[in-house]
Amino acid sequence: MVRVLGFLSILASATLAVIGTVLPRAETFDYIVVGGGSAGSIIASRLSENSHVSVLVIEGGPSHENEVDLTIPYIYPRTFHSRFDWNFTTVPQPNLNNRAPIYPRGHVLGGSSSINGMTLNRAPASDWDKIASHTGDRSFRWENILKYIKKNEGFNRPPNTREYANSYDTSVHGFNANKIGNTLVTDGNWISEPSLGAASEVGISHVGDVNGGYPVGISWQQFSTKGGARSSAATEYLNARILKSRPNLKVLLNSFVTRLLPTAGSNLRFTTVEYRDASGATVTATARREVILSAGVMATPIILMRSGLGPRAHLQANNITTVLDIPAIGQNLQDRIGAAAVWMVNATDTDDDIDRDTAVFNKWMDQWNHNRTGRLTQMSYRQMIFGRVPNNASIFSTMQDPSSGPTCPHYELYPANKWTSPTSPRPPTGHFVTMNIFVSASNVRGTVTLDPTNPLTGNPVIDPKYLSSEWDRYVMRDAIRTSARYFNAPSWKKWNATPVFDTSILNDDDALDAWVSSAVFGGVHGVGTARMGPTNSPPGQDVVAPNFKVKGVSGLRIADTSIFPFVINGHTMGATYAIAEKVSDLIKSGN
Ligand SMILES: Cc1cc2nc3c(=O)[nH]c(=O)nc-3n(C[C@H](O)[C@H](O)[C@H](O)COP(=O)(O)OP(=O)(O)OC[C@H]3O[C@@H](n4cnc5c(N)ncnc54)[C@H](O)[C@@H]3O)c2cc1C
Ligand SMILES: *[C@@H]1O[C@H](CO)[C@@H](O)[C@H](O)[C@H]1NC(C)=O
Ligand SMILES: *[C@@H]1O[C@H](CO)[C@@H](O)[C@H](O)[C@H]1NC(C)=O
Ligand SMILES: *[C@@H]1O[C@H](CO)[C@@H](O)[C@H](O)[C@H]1NC(C)=O
Ligand SMILES: *[C@@H]1O[C@H](CO)[C@@H](O)[C@H](O)[C@H]1NC(C)=O
Ligand SMILES: *[C@@H]1O[C@H](CO)[C@@H](O)[C@H](O)[C@H]1NC(C)=O
Repeated sequence: MVRVLGFLSILASATLAVIGTVLPRAETFDYIVVGGGSAGSIIASRLSENSHVSVLVIEGGPSHENEVDLTIPYIYPRTFHSRFDWNFTTVPQPNLNNRAPIYPRGHVLGGSSSINGMTLNRAPASDWDKIASHTGDRSFRWENILKYIKKNEGFNRPPNTREYANSYDTSVHGFNANKIGNTLVTDGNWISEPSLGAASEVGISHVGDVNGGYPVGISWQQFSTKGGARSSAATEYLNARILKSRPNLKVLLNSFVTRLLPTAGSNLRFTTVEYRDASGATVTATARREVILSAGVMATPIILMRSGLGPRAHLQANNITTVLDIPAIGQNLQDRIGAAAVWMVNATDTDDDIDRDTAVFNKWMDQWNHNRTGRLTQMSYRQMIFGRVPNNASIFSTMQDPSSGPTCPHYELYPANKWTSPTSPRPPTGHFVTMNIFVSASNVRGTVTLDPTNPLTGNPVIDPKYLSSEWDRYVMRDAIRTSARYFNAPSWKKWNATPVFDTSILNDDDALDAWVSSAVFGGVHGVGTARMGPTNSPPGQDVVAPNFKVKGVSGLRIADTSIFPFVINGHTMGATYAIAEKVSDLIKSGN
């Protein structure tokens, strides 16, 4: 009881001292960070380590503190369509039978890292090397980015038992206990044996560490959890302890940024932020040094366009005066689409009963509350497979390999220990394993544009153009066929793995494509809407230079997933953390 009260009182004073919703007019700051999300929380935290520098974060959502749905890993999908989600959807997608999948984004301190699935990847080495050669900046190379990845990480070694032999490599991890936790699932269950066994039976190689830069093969998943709970950019970088101890750092919550304004005296200096504060008033704040825009892959391009930075014709159509014509803003949206294929198994220890039987759920909930162990400390995943279509695949007679190199994945598969298909409901009985299938190295490019009926406060119009490339269809087919071979291997047959879908589609490309159109649930790994390019690329072709500064204007950097020039061939959170650490370092060192 005493402990709980102590905890609450720290929070309460933190709320009064440094978290607010309305800013006293007279206050000014060196840096303003727009969006306290995955990248923004880290940048604000790092910059304010210097007590002589003042930092303001303007975040659209509420606090993450004391929110059960943001804390207990297993129940994270409860955050979709909650007050922690911006509730975006795509426009109807012609290749998905005109469905318009949801596009969740975190609307809370910590951003999407407060609501996401916690799979911690950091992109393959060749992705970073490709960014380095594209930008002409060697500091993005894998061997150079690794120091930022480690700086951000607190790796937790799994138990020293035979089960976890060869499941991780300490040389590629950071061990900073107060940074993002990185944990293997350690609550034993039946699925590792068939999952690993079947892989070796069908010739999928074992990878010693999924985050060692060379992920192709089967490996243990790593998760951004710590002590049985979510570890996010907010819990580690903008928690109550940090906020309380730093008078030079302020966080405004529930404050919606509408646009950036040219700062008096120069029409190309963008250090003034206009926002609607929690009282509903529209106000501005001006940074003495810089604004860092970290509102994420959807909101960052929208805020830029509202500020007169973007494709001229589109701004004109929305009655926005163009300050600088930057055609690349809102273009080049790349993502990794996902679909789920379900197999029935005769195991009894799947997570299906947790979801459909309240008594089972409550039992695990009691255990989580008791000592933060058990099934709710994890999602339903243990291993993941990154694969490539064969080198002699017919697609390569018409298309060059769009991936970043021979060690870059073309697809990702990870089995869930339950029915998770978001496009069809779980049957009332039975036990299932769902293969989640993601396409990588996609060459589809979609768009994010203003809502013409409400350019100043409307939601982004998101058109990812899902499945508009033969590559994405081809890889989907290959990945589904690979997963069927995998479930036919002896180790899965021991569990009587039986497909729940009609397997005749496996022999018919058109039927398989039709199934994919009905099954794809969209992506959550969007990048590229404010992409980075070489320092000297022609104006408007790219949005930011390798130092994250917006080309053609001053006082403004962008640092979030929107800057990646190409799709990240893994889950995006880890790569975002790396660039947040990198940009913080650049700013602190005066570059
Ligand atoms: C449901 C879901 C599951 C995912 N699962 C995984 C996973 O398992 N592993 C993984 O690696 N990646 C996952 N991702 C992707 C990953 O979380 C994101 O790519 C990454 O967190 C994005 O970081 P960011 O800093 O670019 O944006 P965000 O973290 O989204 O931050 C943007 C911030 O800006 C704020 N903001 C936006 N607009 C405004 C405005 N107008 N005014 C003020 N504030 C604003 C937002 O509220 C938010 O706090 C998932 C994403 C989602 C949504
Ligand atoms: C998202 O939708 C939910 C459910 O309708 C709602 O409660 C929540 O306020 C919405 N989020 C935002 C940011 O408006
Ligand atoms: C732009 O302005 C014109 C003329 O005032 C108006 O008719 C039109 O609806 C406006 N368009 C938008 C997107 O606001
Ligand atoms: C946690 O509590 C459960 C009972 O709720 C118990 O079975 C388990 O051994 C405990 N684990 C630890 C590490 O204390
Ligand atoms: C590719 O090579 C494999 C094994 O070498 C062979 O079985 C397969 O038929 C080839 N595929 C094509 C499309 O040539
Ligand atoms: C599951 O099915 C397989 C194959 O039919 C069988 O050998 C095995 O004994 C079954 N296991 C259980 C737990 O029922």
